[in-house]
Amino acid sequence: MPSVLFVDQSGQLGGAEFALLQLAAHCRARSEVVLLSDGPFRARLEALGARVRVISDARVSEVVRHASLARCLQVVPGIFRQVRAIAAHARRFDVLFLNTQKALVLGALGKPLHRRPVIWYQHDILTREHFGRVQLNIVKWLVRLAVDHVVVNSHASARSLAALTGIDADSVPVIYNGIDARAFERVDGKNMAALRARLGLPADVWLAGLFGRLAPWKGQHIALDTLARLRDMHLVLVGAPLFGEDAYARALHEQAAALGVADRVHFAGFQDDVPAWMKAMDVILHTSTEPEPFGRVIVEGMAAARPVIAAAAGGVTEIVRHRHNGWLVKPGDARALGDAIDTLRNDPALAAQLAAQAFSDARSEFSVERYLQRMTQAIGQAAR
Ligand code: UDP
Ligand code: GLC
Repeated sequence: MPSVLFVDQSGQLGGAEFALLQLAAHCRARSEVVLLSDGPFRARLEALGARVRVISDARVSEVVRHASLARCLQVVPGIFRQVRAIAAHARRFDVLFLNTQKALVLGALGKPLHRRPVIWYQHDILTREHFGRVQLNIVKWLVRLAVDHVVVNSHASARSLAALTGIDADSVPVIYNGIDARAFERVDGKNMAALRARLGLPADVWLAGLFGRLAPWKGQHIALDTLARLRDMHLVLVGAPLFGEDAYARALHEQAAALGVADRVHFAGFQDDVPAWMKAMDVILHTSTEPEPFGRVIVEGMAAARPVIAAAAGGVTEIVRHRHNGWLVKPGDARALGDAIDTLRNDPALAAQLAAQAFSDARSEFSVERYLQRMTQAIGQAAR
């Protein structure tokens, strides 16, 4: 196994970071992780034995996804400092593995300095719905000029890369995230009342759970609209605004009050024990209004052996097969989501059948073992 320097822009715990956590822990003997900002992700990496170094620059960190060209120019000196620091460090490793877009920019720009093979794990759907024009152009040219290998988290992400760069989508390896099924086995989900009591949730109501960071495109507002249409159901929102979406979080509270459903919504905030929270639910919802690149939370809901209702776009349709291992609905459609919930709620046998198939598919198609095996293979190829 070659030695690897992993780079990730975030100190927060998003899906891309959870994917890197497993990989960096697996490769800890011959690797190190550079984070471009500090946060709880660092402690999680270190707890698993990974060596971590933070190379941050406050002004660069402030450049947001839809930054203008002028804003980008202001932070050029800071960018060069970070590019040089990453490159100096990368020279000690065989391969540079970039896990996010800002990591891609800073790591790939330094290629003339470090001259190491660059591999990028692309976690995003690279379209204007998700990103600014300037950012997409930068990504396009860096991929063409300075990246040796790209791997993607879904075919949907690969198609967006192909449309942006002209690379043949079929030539890009799709490596799905792996979900640790054992973490779900450790939770006793049979005694629902005891589990809910431990988590401080109401014991005897029908509970829908929506997991994920609070962000407009994750569509928590759609779930609130749906809740207002359905009686006798409670909704648990597990997750926090990780990347500055505090205004959206406040708007959700206001929306719940305005709809008169505040007493049936539980804002749980960020939770570490997602397996227990998922097993405490009757159904798991996924409500992204833009195409989801992959959606770890969907596979986690499946691994929890719960019926999952998901928004049919992006990588989601590669995970969920309608009426087979879950239920697909039109993204952004609160009525369709409500109808789907009603269907599964009124037909517990169907819900159980979907959940059983989902449980089996999560283990066979999205195992951590397969993810690590394919990822280390890709890193090995990049090093050659
Ligand atoms: N997650 C978590 N605690 C929370 C909410 C989410 O640990 O309170 C985890 C969740 O289990 C999943 C990840 O955050 O593994 C989110 O990844 P996903 O791919 O679904 O979405 P992303 O945030 O990367 O777009
Ligand atoms: C990104 C995507 C998410 C995906 C995760 C892991 O954060 O938004 O859909 O599951 O990366 O690949």
